[in-house]
Amino acid sequence: MSALKITVMNSGPLHLTGDFEIVDAAGHAFPNQGIFSLCRCGKSARKPYCDGTHRAERWENEAHSDDVRIPNA
Ligand code: FES
Repeated sequence: MSALKITVMNSGPLHLTGDFEIVDAAGHAFPNQGIFSLCRCGKSARKPYCDGTHRAERWENEAHSDDVRIPNA
């Protein structure tokens, strides 16, 4: 398996690929189909999964790694 890679999609979800597990607060694993699309907009009816609602809501957000500064780094 490969390392976990998380891709922040423009105006969309987080795409997770690779070797990982996602669990709920009780430690129970969500079904893993090899790729997850996790909601980033907060509007999905299937959280933590993205259900495409971000498109209907015209949610916009672009995150660029060079825009993020870590305090005291
Ligand atoms: S990111 Fe797709 S529904 Fe929230």
